[in-house]
Amino acid sequence: MTDLPKVNGDFYGKNIISLDQFAASDLTLLFKHTQIHKKIADYNRPSKRLAGHIISLLFYEPSSRTFGSFLSAAQRLGAGTLAIQNPETVSSVAKGETLEDTIRTFASYTSAIVIRSKKEGTAQEAANATDIPIINAGDGTGEHPTQALLDMYTLFDRFGTLSGLTGVIVGDLLNGRTVHSLLRGLSLFKNNHIYLLSPQNLQLPTPLLKHLQTKGLTIHILTSTKNMPINAHFWYWTRVQKERFVHLEEYEKLKHSFILTPQLLKDKGNPNLILMHPLPRVGEIEEGVDNDPRAYYFKQMRNGLYVRMALFDLILNKR
Ligand code: NCD
Repeated sequence: MTDLPKVNGDFYGKNIISLDQFAASDLTLLFKHTQIHKKIADYNRPSKRLAGHIISLLFYEPSSRTFGSFLSAAQRLGAGTLAIQNPETVSSVAKGETLEDTIRTFASYTSAIVIRSKKEGTAQEAANATDIPIINAGDGTGEHPTQALLDMYTLFDRFGTLSGLTGVIVGDLLNGRTVHSLLRGLSLFKNNHIYLLSPQNLQLPTPLLKHLQTKGLTIHILTSTKNMPINAHFWYWTRVQKERFVHLEEYEKLKHSFILTPQLLKDKGNPNLILMHPLPRVGEIEEGVDNDPRAYYFKQMRNGLYVRMALFDLILNKR
């Protein structure tokens, strides 16, 4: 997706489809604004930054955090929302309407559309059907750019930099769209070393691996937790994506290949490490880890609200 229009220092009116649209400086700009929005949210300050706007949320796949935080972000900034979960059952999609016509419809009534879809490429197809900004909230096994933005914000907030980081990324690297976007994000900065750990059948797609290496990201492939580095800044655990499997027996076999336990943390952790997960977790992080001060996944989730507020503000308000 390298030919997507770049953000290039100006988010106004842009589609957000892939992390490949970003440069390091775009993230810095976004995170500066995120600090402002964090205050608005944490103190429940009334804000009218998006007054007059209505934002569509069109979610063809289940969602708690992404849906909830986008909705909350819009409403905290004074926007109205037209939120549809399961358009296949409650909108004219049920009658056979095409994606393009559905997008044209909601574009007639609102200022931007946040879309989560089942298929890679759908967010781009939506963007091709309208002039209003489209925000990709996850397109099948493709990307989940706003999750990567909040993941990167979490790292930046904790370490004060996004360069020179060592990270371990674990789980379903084949199907996990959050990982696909996060790795693209990490490749924008220098000297990042990433260790990938997944079941053999769920490795990162080779074209993406090559793309990241070309961009200068150092990637090491692990086959067991035994070889995990002990100097990591972060561990980013992910769920095996059940909904992407054709054979459920295969999923059952692989789902708990790697589990983050208090013991693993004792064996391979270090005091400065943070533990991340896009959530939902379904058994791959033991609850016994939750009270460890290094467990950052709930803080990370809250960060999604701040980053999405900042993103809406930058996309819908001309500077
Ligand atoms: C992720 C997703 O939908 O890709 N969830 C989220 O948005 N935080 C991760 C997942 O479902 O495993």
